[in-house]
Amino acid sequence: MAPKMTFLLSSSVPMVTPMPDAPLDPRSISSLEVLLNDLKVGTIVRTPGDFNAFSFEKSYRQTGGFPVLSLSFRAAHGGLRKDPKPVARALPSFFANLLPEDKLREAMEKHHSGSVRAGNDFDLLAALGSDLPGAVRIVPSEGIVARTEGLTPRPKARFSLAGVQMKLSVIKNTGKGGGLTIPLGDEQGSYIAKFPSTSFPGVSENEFANLALAEAIGMDVPERELVEKSEFEGIPEEFETLSDGKVLLVKRFDRGADGERVHIEDFAQVFGIYPSRKYEGAAYHDIAAALGVAVSFSAALEFVRRLALAVLTGNGDMHLKNWSLIYHGKGDKPALAPVYDVLSTVPYIPSDAMALSLAGERPFKAMNAQRWKAFAHRARLPEAAVMKAVTETVERVNQSWWSLPERALVPQKVLERVDAHIKLMTPILAACAD
Ligand SMILES: Nc1ncnc2c1ncn2[C@@H]1O[C@H](COP(=O)(O)OP(=O)(O)O)[C@@H](O)[C@H]1O
Ligand SMILES: [Mg+2]
Repeated sequence: MAPKMTFLLSSSVPMVTPMPDAPLDPRSISSLEVLLNDLKVGTIVRTPGDFNAFSFEKSYRQTGGFPVLSLSFRAAHGGLRKDPKPVARALPSFFANLLPEDKLREAMEKHHSGSVRAGNDFDLLAALGSDLPGAVRIVPSEGIVARTEGLTPRPKARFSLAGVQMKLSVIKNTGKGGGLTIPLGDEQGSYIAKFPSTSFPGVSENEFANLALAEAIGMDVPERELVEKSEFEGIPEEFETLSDGKVLLVKRFDRGADGERVHIEDFAQVFGIYPSRKYEGAAYHDIAAALGVAVSFSAALEFVRRLALAVLTGNGDMHLKNWSLIYHGKGDKPALAPVYDVLSTVPYIPSDAMALSLAGERPFKAMNAQRWKAFAHRARLPEAAVMKAVTETVERVNQSWWSLPERALVPQKVLERVDAHIKLMTPILAACAD
Protein backbone atom coordinates (compact mmCIF):
# COMPACT_ATOMS: atom_id res chain seq x y z
CA MET A 1 0.00 0.00 0.00
CA ALA A 2 2.61 2.47 1.05
CA PRO A 3 4.28 3.17 -2.32
CA LYS A 4 0.93 3.87 -3.97
CA MET A 5 -0.08 6.10 -1.11
CA THR A 6 3.02 8.19 -1.34
CA PHE A 7 2.54 8.40 -5.05
CA LEU A 8 -0.83 10.01 -4.55
CA LEU A 9 0.17 12.12 -1.64
CA SER A 10 3.67 13.30 -1.90
CA SER A 11 5.55 15.43 -4.31
CA SER A 12 8.97 14.05 -3.48
CA VAL A 13 8.93 10.29 -4.07
CA PRO A 14 11.18 9.04 -6.89
CA MET A 15 9.20 7.32 -9.63
CA VAL A 16 10.06 5.10 -12.55
CA THR A 17 9.71 7.60 -15.39
CA PRO A 18 11.69 10.75 -16.04
CA MET A 19 8.90 12.85 -14.49
CA PRO A 20 9.55 11.93 -10.90
CA ASP A 21 7.07 14.14 -9.12
CA ALA A 22 3.93 14.25 -11.21
CA PRO A 23 0.74 13.13 -9.48
CA LEU A 24 -1.40 10.37 -10.86
CA ASP A 25 -4.07 11.90 -13.07
CA PRO A 26 -7.46 10.92 -11.58
CA ARG A 27 -8.95 10.92 -15.09
CA SER A 28 -6.77 7.98 -16.03
CA ILE A 29 -7.65 5.91 -12.96
CA SER A 30 -10.22 3.17 -13.36
CA SER A 31 -10.05 1.45 -9.99
CA LEU A 32 -9.85 2.72 -6.41
CA GLU A 33 -9.09 0.72 -3.29
CA VAL A 34 -11.25 1.48 -0.28
CA LEU A 35 -9.52 1.18 3.07
CA LEU A 36 -10.63 1.64 6.65
CA ASN A 37 -7.42 2.88 8.21
CA ASP A 38 -5.01 0.25 6.80
CA LEU A 39 -7.53 -2.52 6.16
CA LYS A 40 -8.66 -3.02 2.58
CA VAL A 41 -12.43 -3.40 2.59
CA GLY A 42 -13.31 -3.12 -1.09
CA THR A 43 -12.81 -1.65 -4.55
CA ILE A 44 -14.58 0.95 -6.65
CA VAL A 45 -14.29 0.25 -10.37
CA ARG A 46 -15.11 2.75 -13.10
CA THR A 47 -16.23 1.06 -16.31
CA PRO A 48 -16.37 2.52 -19.80
CA GLY A 49 -19.62 4.47 -20.05
CA ASP A 50 -18.86 5.90 -16.61
CA PHE A 51 -20.54 3.37 -14.36
CA ASN A 52 -19.08 3.15 -10.86
CA ALA A 53 -19.32 -0.15 -9.03
CA PHE A 54 -18.30 -0.85 -5.44
CA SER A 55 -17.62 -4.36 -4.24
CA PHE A 56 -16.43 -5.67 -0.89
CA GLU A 57 -13.18 -7.57 -0.53
CA LYS A 58 -13.69 -11.29 0.08
CA SER A 59 -11.51 -11.27 3.20
CA TYR A 60 -13.54 -8.38 4.63
CA ARG A 61 -16.80 -10.20 3.91
CA GLN A 62 -15.42 -13.14 5.87
CA THR A 63 -15.06 -10.94 8.96
CA GLY A 64 -18.81 -10.32 8.81
CA GLY A 65 -18.07 -6.70 7.97
CA PHE A 66 -15.92 -5.53 10.88
CA PRO A 67 -14.72 -2.88 11.51
CA VAL A 68 -17.89 -1.22 10.21
CA LEU A 69 -17.69 0.94 7.08
CA SER A 70 -21.35 1.96 7.18
CA LEU A 71 -24.53 0.62 8.74
CA SER A 72 -26.10 0.98 5.27
CA PHE A 73 -24.04 -2.00 4.10
CA ARG A 74 -25.13 -4.24 6.95
CA ALA A 75 -27.96 -6.72 6.74
CA ALA A 76 -30.65 -6.70 9.45
CA HIS A 77 -29.64 -10.17 10.64
CA GLY A 78 -25.92 -9.29 10.71
CA GLY A 79 -23.19 -9.62 8.11
CA LEU A 80 -22.89 -7.63 4.91
CA ARG A 81 -25.52 -7.10 2.27
CA LYS A 82 -24.91 -7.78 -1.40
CA ASP A 83 -22.70 -5.24 -3.13
CA PRO A 84 -24.62 -2.14 -4.19
CA LYS A 85 -25.67 -1.80 -7.84
CA PRO A 86 -23.29 0.11 -10.13
CA VAL A 87 -24.26 3.76 -10.51
CA ALA A 88 -24.05 5.75 -13.75
CA ARG A 89 -22.06 9.01 -13.61
CA ALA A 90 -22.06 9.17 -9.80
CA LEU A 91 -20.65 7.19 -6.92
CA PRO A 92 -22.69 4.90 -4.68
CA SER A 93 -24.26 7.16 -2.05
CA PHE A 94 -21.92 6.28 0.82
CA PHE A 95 -18.96 7.60 -1.21
CA ALA A 96 -20.83 10.55 -2.76
CA ASN A 97 -21.48 11.67 0.81
CA LEU A 98 -17.73 11.92 1.49
CA LEU A 99 -17.29 14.71 -1.04
CA PRO A 100 -17.52 18.45 -0.47
CA GLU A 101 -20.69 20.20 -1.64
CA ASP A 102 -21.39 23.47 -3.44
CA LYS A 103 -18.76 26.18 -2.98
CA LEU A 104 -16.15 24.00 -1.37
CA ARG A 105 -16.59 21.45 -4.13
CA GLU A 106 -16.17 24.15 -6.78
CA ALA A 107 -13.04 25.43 -5.03
CA MET A 108 -11.59 21.90 -4.85
CA GLU A 109 -12.40 21.26 -8.52
CA LYS A 110 -10.62 24.48 -9.40
CA HIS A 111 -7.66 23.61 -7.17
CA HIS A 112 -7.35 20.29 -9.00
CA SER A 113 -8.41 21.59 -12.40
CA GLY A 114 -6.65 19.81 -15.23
CA SER A 115 -6.97 16.54 -13.38
CA VAL A 116 -10.50 16.60 -11.98
CA ARG A 117 -13.46 17.17 -14.28
CA ALA A 118 -16.25 19.36 -12.93
CA GLY A 119 -19.11 17.29 -11.52
CA ASN A 120 -17.16 14.02 -11.71
CA ASP A 121 -17.44 12.26 -8.34
CA PHE A 122 -14.94 9.53 -9.16
CA ASP A 123 -12.21 12.01 -10.24
CA LEU A 124 -12.74 14.09 -7.11
CA LEU A 125 -12.73 11.09 -4.77
CA ALA A 126 -9.50 9.88 -6.38
CA ALA A 127 -7.92 13.31 -5.83
CA LEU A 128 -9.09 13.80 -2.23
CA GLY A 129 -9.09 10.20 -1.04
CA SER A 130 -6.21 10.61 1.38
CA ASP A 131 -8.04 12.96 3.76
CA LEU A 132 -11.72 12.09 3.99
CA PRO A 133 -14.18 12.33 6.88
CA GLY A 134 -13.69 9.39 9.26
CA ALA A 135 -11.25 6.53 8.73
CA VAL A 136 -11.97 5.85 5.05
CA ARG A 137 -9.01 6.15 2.70
CA ILE A 138 -9.20 5.88 -1.05
CA VAL A 139 -6.11 4.87 -3.01
CA PRO A 140 -5.75 4.26 -6.77
CA SER A 141 -5.38 0.52 -7.47
CA GLU A 142 -3.18 0.89 -10.52
CA GLY A 143 -0.20 2.40 -8.82
CA ILE A 144 2.14 4.03 -11.26
CA VAL A 145 0.57 4.15 -14.71
CA ALA A 146 -0.50 7.39 -16.23
CA ARG A 147 0.85 10.71 -15.18
CA THR A 148 0.08 14.31 -15.87
CA GLU A 149 2.69 15.38 -18.41
CA GLY A 150 4.22 18.80 -18.46
CA LEU A 151 2.83 20.10 -15.18
CA THR A 152 5.01 21.49 -12.46
CA PRO A 153 4.33 19.15 -9.58
CA ARG A 154 3.26 21.00 -6.51
CA PRO A 155 1.70 19.48 -3.41
CA LYS A 156 -2.03 20.10 -3.35
CA ALA A 157 -4.66 20.28 -0.68
CA ARG A 158 -6.39 16.92 -0.55
CA PHE A 159 -8.93 17.14 2.24
CA SER A 160 -12.62 16.57 1.80
CA LEU A 161 -15.26 17.90 4.17
CA ALA A 162 -18.93 17.79 3.42
CA GLY A 163 -21.22 20.76 3.99
CA VAL A 164 -21.77 23.95 2.07
CA GLN A 165 -20.04 26.67 4.08
CA MET A 166 -16.52 27.47 2.94
CA LYS A 167 -14.30 25.52 5.26
CA LEU A 168 -10.81 24.11 5.41
CA SER A 169 -9.18 21.30 7.29
CA VAL A 170 -6.28 23.06 8.99
CA ILE A 171 -3.12 22.48 10.96
CA LYS A 172 -2.52 24.51 14.07
CA ASN A 173 1.17 25.24 14.23
CA THR A 174 2.60 25.24 17.67
CA GLY A 175 5.92 26.82 18.47
CA LYS A 176 7.38 29.93 16.91
CA GLY A 177 4.92 32.21 15.24
CA GLY A 178 2.02 29.76 15.60
CA GLY A 179 -0.52 30.35 12.86
CA LEU A 180 -2.87 28.14 10.91
CA THR A 181 -1.97 26.43 7.66
CA ILE A 182 -3.74 24.24 5.17
CA PRO A 183 -2.46 20.65 4.88
CA LEU A 184 -0.67 20.02 1.60
CA GLY A 185 0.46 16.70 0.17
CA ASP A 186 0.39 14.09 2.92
CA GLU A 187 -0.11 16.47 5.84
CA GLN A 188 -3.28 16.09 7.91
CA GLY A 189 -5.42 18.80 9.45
CA SER A 190 -6.85 18.24 12.90
CA TYR A 191 -9.12 21.31 13.01
CA ILE A 192 -11.95 22.50 10.80
CA ALA A 193 -11.96 26.21 10.01
CA LYS A 194 -15.39 27.51 9.04
CA PHE A 195 -15.26 30.83 7.23
CA PRO A 196 -18.12 33.25 7.77
CA SER A 197 -20.39 34.28 4.96
CA THR A 198 -21.25 37.88 4.16
CA SER A 199 -24.91 36.94 3.81
CA PHE A 200 -25.18 35.76 7.42
CA PRO A 201 -23.77 38.40 9.80
CA GLY A 202 -22.28 37.03 13.01
CA VAL A 203 -22.62 33.44 11.82
CA SER A 204 -19.36 32.30 13.51
CA GLU A 205 -20.28 33.94 16.81
CA ASN A 206 -23.78 32.50 16.53
CA GLU A 207 -22.45 28.94 16.10
CA PHE A 208 -19.81 29.54 18.78
CA ALA A 209 -22.51 30.56 21.28
CA ASN A 210 -24.75 27.65 20.28
CA LEU A 211 -21.89 25.19 20.81
CA ALA A 212 -21.18 26.76 24.20
CA LEU A 213 -24.86 26.42 25.12
CA ALA A 214 -24.89 22.75 24.10
CA GLU A 215 -21.84 22.15 26.26
CA ALA A 216 -23.31 24.09 29.18
CA ILE A 217 -26.36 21.83 29.21
CA GLY A 218 -24.17 18.73 29.34
CA MET A 219 -23.78 17.73 25.71
CA ASP A 220 -20.66 16.33 24.07
CA VAL A 221 -19.15 19.24 22.11
CA PRO A 222 -15.70 19.51 20.48
CA GLU A 223 -13.20 22.17 21.55
CA ARG A 224 -13.51 25.34 19.54
CA GLU A 225 -12.33 28.94 19.32
CA LEU A 226 -12.89 32.04 17.23
CA VAL A 227 -9.83 33.18 15.29
CA GLU A 228 -8.93 36.01 12.93
CA LYS A 229 -8.53 35.46 9.22
CA SER A 230 -5.08 37.00 9.49
CA GLU A 231 -3.93 33.94 11.46
CA PHE A 232 -4.14 31.79 8.32
CA GLU A 233 -1.11 31.48 6.09
CA GLY A 234 -0.64 30.26 2.56
CA ILE A 235 -4.29 29.62 1.68
CA PRO A 236 -4.55 29.08 -2.12
CA GLU A 237 -6.68 31.79 -3.71
CA GLU A 238 -9.43 29.40 -4.83
CA PHE A 239 -10.24 28.87 -1.15
CA GLU A 240 -10.42 32.58 -0.38
CA THR A 241 -13.84 33.83 0.59
CA LEU A 242 -15.25 37.31 0.42
CA SER A 243 -15.99 37.17 4.08
CA ASP A 244 -15.11 39.35 6.95
CA GLY A 245 -15.41 38.59 10.61
CA LYS A 246 -14.07 35.82 12.76
CA VAL A 247 -13.45 32.26 11.66
CA LEU A 248 -14.76 29.37 13.78
CA LEU A 249 -12.10 26.77 14.50
CA VAL A 250 -13.39 23.38 15.72
CA LYS A 251 -11.30 20.40 16.78
CA ARG A 252 -11.94 17.39 14.56
CA PHE A 253 -13.42 14.46 16.49
CA ASP A 254 -12.56 12.09 13.64
CA ARG A 255 -8.83 12.62 14.23
CA GLY A 256 -7.05 11.40 17.38
CA ALA A 257 -4.30 13.12 19.35
CA ASP A 258 -1.62 11.69 17.06
CA GLY A 259 -3.58 12.30 13.89
CA GLU A 260 -5.01 8.75 13.79
CA ARG A 261 -8.33 8.42 12.03
CA VAL A 262 -11.50 7.68 13.97
CA HIS A 263 -14.30 6.46 11.74
CA ILE A 264 -17.54 8.45 11.42
CA GLU A 265 -20.54 8.34 9.11
CA ASP A 266 -23.43 10.78 8.84
CA PHE A 267 -27.10 9.82 8.67
CA ALA A 268 -27.32 10.35 4.92
CA GLN A 269 -24.71 7.58 4.74
CA VAL A 270 -26.47 5.44 7.35
CA PHE A 271 -29.69 5.60 5.29
CA GLY A 272 -27.99 5.39 1.87
CA ILE A 273 -29.32 8.77 0.77
CA TYR A 274 -27.55 11.15 -1.64
CA PRO A 275 -26.40 14.53 -0.28
CA SER A 276 -28.88 16.36 -2.51
CA ARG A 277 -31.71 14.73 -0.52
CA LYS A 278 -30.38 15.59 2.95
CA TYR A 279 -33.48 17.72 3.74
CA GLU A 280 -36.05 15.16 2.72
CA GLY A 281 -34.59 11.66 2.57
CA ALA A 282 -35.77 10.67 6.06
CA ALA A 283 -37.55 12.06 9.12
CA TYR A 284 -36.30 12.64 12.67
CA HIS A 285 -38.05 9.56 14.02
CA ASP A 286 -36.02 7.45 11.55
CA ILE A 287 -32.79 8.74 13.11
CA ALA A 288 -34.11 8.18 16.64
CA ALA A 289 -35.25 4.66 15.79
CA ALA A 290 -31.92 3.82 14.15
CA LEU A 291 -30.04 5.08 17.21
CA GLY A 292 -32.26 3.04 19.51
CA VAL A 293 -31.52 -0.14 17.56
CA ALA A 294 -27.89 0.34 16.51
CA VAL A 295 -26.50 2.31 19.47
CA SER A 296 -28.56 2.45 22.65
CA PHE A 297 -31.70 3.75 24.28
CA SER A 298 -29.68 6.51 25.92
CA ALA A 299 -28.20 7.59 22.56
CA ALA A 300 -31.74 7.87 21.18
CA LEU A 301 -32.72 10.04 24.16
CA GLU A 302 -29.64 12.19 23.72
CA PHE A 303 -30.77 12.71 20.13
CA VAL A 304 -34.18 13.83 21.44
CA ARG A 305 -32.44 16.39 23.71
CA ARG A 306 -30.46 17.72 20.74
CA LEU A 307 -33.65 17.94 18.70
CA ALA A 308 -35.39 19.86 21.47
CA LEU A 309 -32.36 22.18 21.59
CA ALA A 310 -32.67 22.78 17.83
CA VAL A 311 -36.36 23.60 18.19
CA LEU A 312 -35.67 26.00 21.08
CA THR A 313 -32.76 27.83 19.47
CA GLY A 314 -34.46 28.10 16.08
CA ASN A 315 -31.99 25.87 14.27
CA GLY A 316 -33.56 24.86 10.97
CA ASP A 317 -30.50 23.22 9.50
CA MET A 318 -30.27 19.87 11.31
CA HIS A 319 -30.52 17.79 8.14
CA LEU A 320 -29.22 14.24 7.68
CA LYS A 321 -25.59 15.31 7.26
CA ASN A 322 -25.52 17.23 10.53
CA TRP A 323 -25.84 14.09 12.69
CA SER A 324 -23.18 11.41 12.72
CA LEU A 325 -22.19 8.12 14.26
CA ILE A 326 -18.66 7.64 15.52
CA TYR A 327 -16.80 4.34 15.81
CA HIS A 328 -14.31 4.35 18.67
CA GLY A 329 -11.95 1.56 19.64
CA LYS A 330 -11.96 -1.38 17.24
CA GLY A 331 -14.61 0.30 15.12
CA ASP A 332 -17.22 -2.43 15.57
CA LYS A 333 -19.90 -0.49 17.40
CA PRO A 334 -21.21 3.02 16.73
CA ALA A 335 -21.91 5.78 19.23
CA LEU A 336 -23.59 9.13 18.66
CA ALA A 337 -20.89 11.58 17.51
CA PRO A 338 -20.42 14.92 19.28
CA VAL A 339 -22.57 17.93 18.41
CA TYR A 340 -21.52 19.95 15.32
CA ASP A 341 -22.92 22.58 12.94
CA VAL A 342 -25.43 23.98 15.42
CA LEU A 343 -26.58 27.47 14.64
CA SER A 344 -29.70 29.57 15.16
CA THR A 345 -30.97 30.05 11.62
CA VAL A 346 -34.05 32.13 12.54
CA PRO A 347 -32.11 35.42 12.64
CA TYR A 348 -31.31 34.97 8.93
CA ILE A 349 -34.40 33.09 7.75
CA PRO A 350 -37.24 34.33 9.98
CA SER A 351 -39.79 31.88 8.62
CA ASP A 352 -37.40 28.95 8.93
CA ALA A 353 -38.64 25.56 10.11
CA MET A 354 -37.09 22.22 11.06
CA ALA A 355 -34.76 20.75 8.43
CA LEU A 356 -36.56 17.39 8.53
CA SER A 357 -40.05 16.57 9.59
CA LEU A 358 -40.83 15.73 13.20
CA ALA A 359 -43.87 13.49 13.30
CA GLY A 360 -45.07 14.94 10.03
CA GLU A 361 -44.54 18.66 10.80
CA ARG A 362 -41.72 21.16 10.31
CA PRO A 363 -42.72 24.60 11.68
CA PHE A 364 -41.10 25.29 15.06
CA LYS A 365 -44.41 26.39 16.52
CA ALA A 366 -45.94 23.00 15.69
CA MET A 367 -43.55 21.25 18.11
CA ASN A 368 -46.06 20.94 20.94
CA ALA A 369 -46.58 18.06 23.37
CA GLN A 370 -48.88 16.26 20.94
CA ARG A 371 -46.21 16.32 18.28
CA TRP A 372 -43.55 14.86 20.59
CA LYS A 373 -45.92 12.10 21.62
CA ALA A 374 -46.50 11.20 17.98
CA PHE A 375 -42.75 11.34 17.43
CA ALA A 376 -42.10 8.99 20.38
CA HIS A 377 -44.59 6.55 18.92
CA ARG A 378 -43.01 6.63 15.44
CA ALA A 379 -39.49 6.38 16.89
CA ARG A 380 -40.60 3.43 19.03
CA LEU A 381 -39.40 5.17 22.18
CA PRO A 382 -41.34 5.31 25.45
CA GLU A 383 -43.45 8.46 25.47
CA ALA A 384 -42.62 9.38 29.07
CA ALA A 385 -38.87 9.25 28.43
CA VAL A 386 -39.18 11.48 25.35
CA MET A 387 -41.34 14.02 27.18
CA LYS A 388 -38.87 14.08 30.07
CA ALA A 389 -35.91 14.60 27.70
CA VAL A 390 -37.69 17.56 26.08
CA THR A 391 -38.72 19.10 29.40
CA GLU A 392 -35.25 18.76 30.90
CA THR A 393 -33.73 20.41 27.85
CA VAL A 394 -36.05 23.42 28.11
CA GLU A 395 -35.16 23.82 31.78
CA ARG A 396 -31.43 23.48 31.22
CA VAL A 397 -31.38 25.87 28.27
CA ASN A 398 -33.23 28.50 30.27
CA GLN A 399 -30.85 28.00 33.20
CA SER A 400 -27.78 28.48 30.98
CA TRP A 401 -28.62 30.69 28.04
CA TRP A 402 -29.51 33.96 29.70
CA SER A 403 -26.18 34.25 31.50
CA LEU A 404 -23.95 32.46 29.00
CA PRO A 405 -20.71 34.49 28.56
CA GLU A 406 -20.59 33.75 24.79
CA ARG A 407 -23.80 35.80 24.32
CA ALA A 408 -21.65 38.92 24.48
CA LEU A 409 -19.95 37.97 21.20
CA VAL A 410 -23.16 37.62 19.17
CA PRO A 411 -24.23 40.77 17.25
CA GLN A 412 -27.13 42.49 19.04
CA LYS A 413 -29.69 42.07 16.24
CA VAL A 414 -28.93 38.38 15.87
CA LEU A 415 -29.08 37.85 19.63
CA GLU A 416 -32.46 39.58 19.89
CA ARG A 417 -33.96 37.19 17.34
CA VAL A 418 -32.53 34.15 19.10
CA ASP A 419 -33.76 35.39 22.49
CA ALA A 420 -37.25 36.06 21.11
CA HIS A 421 -37.37 32.58 19.59
CA ILE A 422 -36.32 30.88 22.84
CA LYS A 423 -38.98 32.88 24.71
CA LEU A 424 -41.60 31.90 22.16
CA MET A 425 -40.74 28.21 22.19
CA THR A 426 -40.17 27.73 25.93
CA PRO A 427 -43.86 27.46 26.96
CA ILE A 428 -44.68 25.31 23.92
CA LEU A 429 -42.01 22.77 24.84
CA ALA A 430 -42.43 23.12 28.60
CA ALA A 431 -46.00 21.87 28.15
CA CYS A 432 -44.45 18.43 27.59
CA ALA A 433 -44.18 18.26 31.40
CA ASP A 434 -47.96 18.06 31.82
N1 LIG B 1 -15.68 18.74 14.89
C1 LIG B 1 -15.78 17.95 13.84
N2 LIG B 1 -15.03 16.83 13.75
C2 LIG B 1 -15.10 16.01 12.68
N3 LIG B 1 -15.88 16.24 11.63
C3 LIG B 1 -16.65 17.34 11.65
C4 LIG B 1 -16.64 18.24 12.74
N4 LIG B 1 -17.50 19.25 12.46
C5 LIG B 1 -18.00 18.98 11.24
N5 LIG B 1 -17.49 17.84 10.74
C6 LIG B 1 -17.73 17.22 9.44
O1 LIG B 1 -17.55 18.22 8.46
C7 LIG B 1 -18.74 18.41 7.74
C8 LIG B 1 -18.95 19.90 7.52
O2 LIG B 1 -19.00 20.59 8.74
P1 LIG B 1 -20.27 21.47 9.12
O3 LIG B 1 -19.97 22.11 10.43
O4 LIG B 1 -21.48 20.61 9.06
O5 LIG B 1 -20.25 22.55 7.96
P2 LIG B 1 -21.43 23.22 7.11
O6 LIG B 1 -21.93 24.34 7.95
O7 LIG B 1 -20.78 23.66 5.87
O8 LIG B 1 -22.46 22.16 6.87
C9 LIG B 1 -19.82 17.77 8.57
O9 LIG B 1 -20.86 17.29 7.77
C10 LIG B 1 -19.10 16.65 9.30
O10 LIG B 1 -19.00 15.51 8.49
MG1 LIG C 1 -23.24 20.77 8.02
